[in-house]
Amino acid sequence: MTDRAAFDKDTTTDEVLQGIDLTGKTVVITGGTSGLGQESARVMAGKGAKVVITGRNMDKARAVADEIDGDVTVEELELGSFDSIKSFAQRLLANHPKIDILINNAGVMACPYAETSDGFELQFGSNHLGHFLMTQLLMPALGEGSRVVSLSSAAHQFAPVMFDDIGFKSTDYDKWAAYGQSKTANSLFAIGLNKRLQSKGSEAFSVHPGVIETELARHMTEEDMEMFAAGIESGAIPVKTVPQGAATQVYAATAPELAGKGGAYLADVQIAPMEEGTEDFSKVRPYAVDEEAAERLWIVSEEMISQSGKS
Ligand SMILES: NC(=O)c1ccc[n+]([C@@H]2O[C@H](COP(=O)([O-])OP(=O)(O)OC[C@H]3O[C@@H](n4cnc5c(N)ncnc54)[C@H](OP(=O)(O)O)[C@@H]3O)[C@@H](O)[C@H]2O)c1
Repeated sequence: MTDRAAFDKDTTTDEVLQGIDLTGKTVVITGGTSGLGQESARVMAGKGAKVVITGRNMDKARAVADEIDGDVTVEELELGSFDSIKSFAQRLLANHPKIDILINNAGVMACPYAETSDGFELQFGSNHLGHFLMTQLLMPALGEGSRVVSLSSAAHQFAPVMFDDIGFKSTDYDKWAAYGQSKTANSLFAIGLNKRLQSKGSEAFSVHPGVIETELARHMTEEDMEMFAAGIESGAIPVKTVPQGAATQVYAATAPELAGKGGAYLADVQIAPMEEGTEDFSKVRPYAVDEEAAERLWIVSEEMISQSGKS
């Protein structure tokens, strides 16, 4: 028997799902074409779930789905385009009236300044705002027992949501602050969403998966790589394998013991302790789980979507 209370940073996806049957469940994973999304799809399909992964490059997405044993289908989604999100949501709702698990996993990290098709800074625009709009559109399919999991990160410690200048209009662009802001937004979104899901009997969580070598590093410079390598060598940055990294999101999506704990931020396959000013990757800073900031973000995000004329 698995000792679920002993789950920790070394726990893997397969261990998290031991004894859990996902037959008949519909799981939707954004950004399922590599890294943590791909691993989540593999392990959940292996437990009988019908899994939908989203991709931008459909050849890549189909190749990933074909490699996985089980019921995995693909849908096109570009989170940096409200048109793409709306068309994805329409197709998904037509084929899947109930979504049991939605993992908002897709993300981009520390890219040079760029904007979404709708004119928002790319990291906030795709990591947060794209998922915000998409989840709102998918609300009709969320019902009793559904869970929504947002991939945040310990990088939330790099920056809160900078409400005065979210889009870096009057501040010099800093790719790490922009990533940090988007990951704080992912955590705050889970809190705002959880509140709005209560009447449906659904819950929302956010997670830091750990530090895992994936394609997420695609925009890192040599200097960034050196900094990370030094952190890893000194032990300051603990590294996980992909199955260990994806374990926390799969846990948040399925663990029966998390029922009623919606809104929580998890790390290392458990609810993370909160600590002011922490630099410990297994903990969360208060500003990333602040209910007032979560409400403010919700309102600002709704305004951004409606100002784009694409709501
Ligand atoms: N790896 C880590 O150490 C780490 C740590 C903390 C948090 N996270 C978070 O974990 C999540 C998964 O990361 P990963 O490490 O698995 O990264 P990854 O291997 O780069 O996978 C990211 C996925 O997101 C997709 N994606 C990126 N931008 C998108 C957009 N605009 N629209 C639609 N899809 C998009 C990618 O699609 P393409 O294949 O088309 O590029 C890919 O499928 C991210 O949200 C990341 O912030 C990761």
